[in-house]
Formats: sequence, structure tokens, C-alpha cells
Amino acid sequence: MGEKVDNNSPIAEQKPNLLDAKNISHEFDYKLFENITFSIKPKESISIIGMSGSGKSTLLNILSSLLTPKSGEIIYNNKNLYGLKKKELLNIRREDFGIIFQAHYLFRGFSASDNLKIATLLSGNDVDQELLKKLNIEFVLNQSVGELSGGQQQRLSIARVLTKKPKIIFADEPTGNLDKDTAQIVMDTLFEYIKDNDAALVLVTHENDLAEQCDKVYKLENLQLKELK
Ligand SMILES: Nc1ncnc2c1ncn2[C@@H]1O[C@H](COP(=O)(O)OP(=O)(O)OP(=O)(O)O)[C@@H](O)[C@H]1O
Ligand SMILES: [Mg+2]
Repeated sequence: MGEKVDNNSPIAEQKPNLLDAKNISHEFDYKLFENITFSIKPKESISIIGMSGSGKSTLLNILSSLLTPKSGEIIYNNKNLYGLKKKELLNIRREDFGIIFQAHYLFRGFSASDNLKIATLLSGNDVDQELLKKLNIEFVLNQSVGELSGGQQQRLSIARVLTKKPKIIFADEPTGNLDKDTAQIVMDTLFEYIKDNDAALVLVTHENDLAEQCDKVYKLENLQLKELK
């Protein structure tokens, strides 16, 4: 006779955090933010908005293992990212984090499908044909990157990141080059991905209507990250 599990109890709903930012501060020429603390759970999407130059990309770089903060900790899998050995940090970045940059970093001169193949070789996952159809790029695979439109390159880089099956997606203006309808398709693809894969999304955007679609909305302002939603 097993114990009856009450799935409605608050404890059953509590999932461990996927990522914890603790007291993060950073500055370059001037102070960007101070003592920022927040966390991200599986299946959760959060957006970060704020004025140009407020430090959104810098914060995203810190969260995603690319930049050591002046102070504070990023905890992932019970480990402080910036206390890890270089190789361990690199493995997490390579295997668990999906970073979508504003500039796409595709391999130019190679075909679209070669760029996807690289992700399959690194991760051992197959390219998801449905994903390519959803993103409306299944018909450009034989073209070289240089022949693709800016928006097609952007969607190709998103498909490449998702092929890795990351646990957390960090996306810096992933819809910057896209018309409204295509931007919505990209957002829906990202939302669906995190729900299906128990992953999370951290989105930096200046488009308020896209930011609003995330579970939580934060604004970086006056050195603080304020929760708007
Ligand atoms: N590597 C760096 N070295 C020196 N200063 C930097 C560096 N990276 C960013 N900065 C400065 O930090 C500030 C915040 O930059 P950041 O790119 O984080 O802003 P942002 O909020 O992403 O802006 P945008 O909306 O324009 O993309 C800017 O003043 C920028 O010049
Ligand atoms: Mg930026």
C-alpha cells in the first residue's frame, strides 16, 4: 500500500530552481547593476527589458557563463559557475546552455545544412525536421549562409541552438530582424521547446509585447532588476 501523493499540495508543486543569480553586481566604466538576485525554474520563461546601455546583454553574458561578474554567484546544478574549473564551465556552456546571440555566429561559406550538422555532431542529436518547417527554413538548407536573408540566418542559428537540446536558452533580441508574424513564430517555437523539454528561457528584448508573453517580466533600471509581472 503506497502513500497517497497529494499532487495539489504546495510541496508537490515546488520544483528546484534551474538557475540562481545571487547578489550579482557588475560595472565597466560605470556601475551597471548591484545585488541582483533572482531564479529560474524549469518550463519558465522570463524576459528582461530596459533602456539601451542599461546592461541587459552584460547581465545575460553573466548568467550564461560568458562573463565573470564583479561580485555575486550564479548557481547551476548546485554549483557556482564562476568557481568551476575552466573545463567544467566549458562543458556546461557546451552541453546545457543554448546561447542565441544578436549577431548569429554562423559559419559563413558553409551551407545552412552544414551549420546544422555541426550541432548534431557536437550533441549527438538529430536535426528536428518539424522544427525547420515551423521556422520556415526547411527549403534553404542547401544555400550557403551568405545567400540567406538576415531573418533566415537568425532562424537558422535558433534551430542550431535548439538542436543541442539545451536546458536553458539565453536569447539576446532573437527576433530583432524579423517581421511581427515571423517573430511570433520564433517565440512560439521557443515557448514550445521549453515546455516539451523541461527547459527555461531568458529573453532580452525591447519589444514589450513579446516580453509580456513570458511568465515573468523584469526591467533593468537604476542598477536594479525590478519584477514587473
Ligand atoms: N566588454 C565591455 N567593456 C567595456 N564596456 C562594456 C563592455 N560591454 C558592455 N560595456 C558597456 O556596458 C554598458 C551596457 O552594455 P550592454 O551591452 O550590457 O547594454 P544593453 O542594455 O544590452 O544595451 P542595448 O539595448 O543597446 O543592447 C554600455 O555602456 C557598454 O558600453
Ligand atoms: Mg544588448
